[in-house]
Amino acid sequence: LPFISKKLEHSSVNATSPLSLPLPLIVSFFNQKGGVGKTTHLFHFASFLSLEQKKKVLCLDMDPQGNLSSLWQQNKYENQKGFLTLMMEALPEINKMGNKNIPWERYVYSFFSSKNVENNILDCLESDPNLTSFELMVASLQFPKQLVLKNFLEKNKSFFSNYDIILIDCPPTLGLLSLNALLASQYIIVPFRPDPFSYQGIVALEESLELLRSMKVFNVPTVLGAIPNLVSLRRKQEKLMLDKITFLLQNYYPEILIAKSLPNVSWASPLESLKGKDLLKIKEWRENTYHPFLEKIDCDLNNRIKELSN
Ligand SMILES: Nc1ncnc2c1ncn2[C@@H]1O[C@H](COP(=O)(O)OP(=O)(O)OP(=O)(O)O)[C@@H](O)[C@H]1O
Ligand SMILES: [Mg+2]
Repeated sequence: LPFISKKLEHSSVNATSPLSLPLPLIVSFFNQKGGVGKTTHLFHFASFLSLEQKKKVLCLDMDPQGNLSSLWQQNKYENQKGFLTLMMEALPEINKMGNKNIPWERYVYSFFSSKNVENNILDCLESDPNLTSFELMVASLQFPKQLVLKNFLEKNKSFFSNYDIILIDCPPTLGLLSLNALLASQYIIVPFRPDPFSYQGIVALEESLELLRSMKVFNVPTVLGAIPNLVSLRRKQEKLMLDKITFLLQNYYPEILIAKSLPNVSWASPLESLKGKDLLKIKEWRENTYHPFLEKIDCDLNNRIKELSN
């Protein structure tokens, strides 16, 4: 198992942190519309934060499709437990033993350990085929089924607090998996295409958030930003749809940060960019696209450090 045993070697992330730190900033990438660039932007944002901003980044793949995890899995180890299995095993209601000592070094994949890039932390807790049966597995739980992930993160704070930021890739549905991701997050970033389905997706998201807010028992996340993706401004219809969706978003969330729109570009595909082509273009593009989010996140992380030192 050369890859697995090396996984945490290059990272300064320890299996357990001696200090009881608060959880890191948690951001979900969500849109119930499929194929709008959730996974793509999460990956680019995560790797930019890690490589250019020297942040300690953990990606959490909550999508049973496992597209994000596949970017980490060049050396996949057979029978590796995915993140969901790990989370379910830790639940005393499901597993009487309640697995308390999780050997994180076995489950966290480091992006750079096999690439000789040191001092950059870009880790992943991978998706799991069992994610499809999540709803059935949590059906009998006593505590709110929307908070399984949040509780798991809280209970394992000594591990998760080693990171600056956790980015969660959501599936393209507003089911229990996505709700768990959203309710564990402070922020949501919404990639969208300038089309009617994305418009409907944003309406559905706000309706769900409003319902959750009205229940007054949840900490409902803020929609921090949106990324117009695969936009062809020369097409009149797309320009109109982009304006319509921007208007909707600003109406719902007056403070929302909207990224510069991104056309169809070959290097946006993580698999293409991993081949190392056009790296400079990618750097410029990422900086331009994520600029408003980076400032906000930097500011939040600095505040977190200040709070810790007080
Ligand atoms: N700006 C872009 N230019 C070119 N290709 C892109 C761009 N954005 C995304 N893609 C490609 O479009 C496809 C869908 O993107 P992605 O998988 O990120 O969407 P998604 O919202 O995560 O999809 P799903 O809802 O299925 O999880 C991928 O093949 C990706 O590489
Ligand atoms: Mg995806």
